[in-house]
Amino acid sequence: MITARSTPNIALIKYWGNRHDEFRLCANENLAMTLDGPHVDVSIELAETLSVTSANKEMTEKDTVRFQKTLNLIEVYLATIAPTEVSNLTITIDSQIPPSIGLASSAAVFSALAKAVSGLVDADLTDEQISVMARLGSGSAARSIFGGYGAVRNEENLFIDGSKGWQVADEHHWNLHDIIIVPSTEEKKVGSSEGHPKAWTSPDFAKRVEDINNHRQQECIDALLAKDFEKLQAVVEEDCMEMHHCMQTQDPPLNYLSDETYRILDEVKSMRKADHLPVLYTMDAGPTVHLFCTDEAKERITEYAHAQESCKVFEASVGQGAYLV
Ligand code: DP6
Repeated sequence: MITARSTPNIALIKYWGNRHDEFRLCANENLAMTLDGPHVDVSIELAETLSVTSANKEMTEKDTVRFQKTLNLIEVYLATIAPTEVSNLTITIDSQIPPSIGLASSAAVFSALAKAVSGLVDADLTDEQISVMARLGSGSAARSIFGGYGAVRNEENLFIDGSKGWQVADEHHWNLHDIIIVPSTEEKKVGSSEGHPKAWTSPDFAKRVEDINNHRQQECIDALLAKDFEKLQAVVEEDCMEMHHCMQTQDPPLNYLSDETYRILDEVKSMRKADHLPVLYTMDAGPTVHLFCTDEAKERITEYAHAQESCKVFEASVGQGAYLV
């Protein structure tokens, strides 16, 4: 049995929409911070047929089909490197991630699966190659292979490995924190997987893709490497709000943000203006607000988060990425 452990990551430049749906080739380059928890363990063993069980979640037929498709694609990809049969496995998932809190468990699960599968391959795979396998299960999972700040870059082709993960900086580069405020724990109605293929129906999506690929991803990388929080804040918030605008204008529209989300954003903006706090906000496919901050602002932001009535709060910092246990 091979076991790998991984954690979610939170995007600073969001992945939204595909160039190729089946291969999950990201339309735009993207970038995230890998969290230090909560983690997921994925264990695999070769078997006669595929079975997937989770200690914390009832697996549906749809879930199993997703694993089957992912493993079939991984096999296709591995055929180009070191042919390996991986489509019949016993997969056991043990997740510490509370369900429906707006933390993408799929990124942690598929990055751990890819890392575990790398242990079956009769070759030393690079993290870049493992990130391609992770991406075939979930686009954002490519980034959790890396500690610190992981990104996805695009090649012009539409080959199965045409979007690849890479590490912008490791977890020792900049100790940022993600204070997570969860206003609603309701299961979301439309997940990202259903939303991505419709991204191109937003009239503003093509421009978004162009802007990110031409300069925004690089601006975010530069801000991270220079540890320039002000620049990071500007580029991350612009990108987040633009992604939500595209989601809201695609067909059918996706509205993930709630009144509570907007209330928290307004309060955070006033608070940081008054007190010059290094804090920025970002939201994924749900009303959950991620408040990224430096050591300097952590205490104040955590205190603010815990003062929010009927909201759950989680705290994480930059983490180390997927590893074999
Ligand atoms: C809004 O990676 O969750 O969180 O490939 O279908 O699993 P699938 O999608 P996923 O999409 C992430 C969408 C996002 C932005 C991001 O994390 O970059």
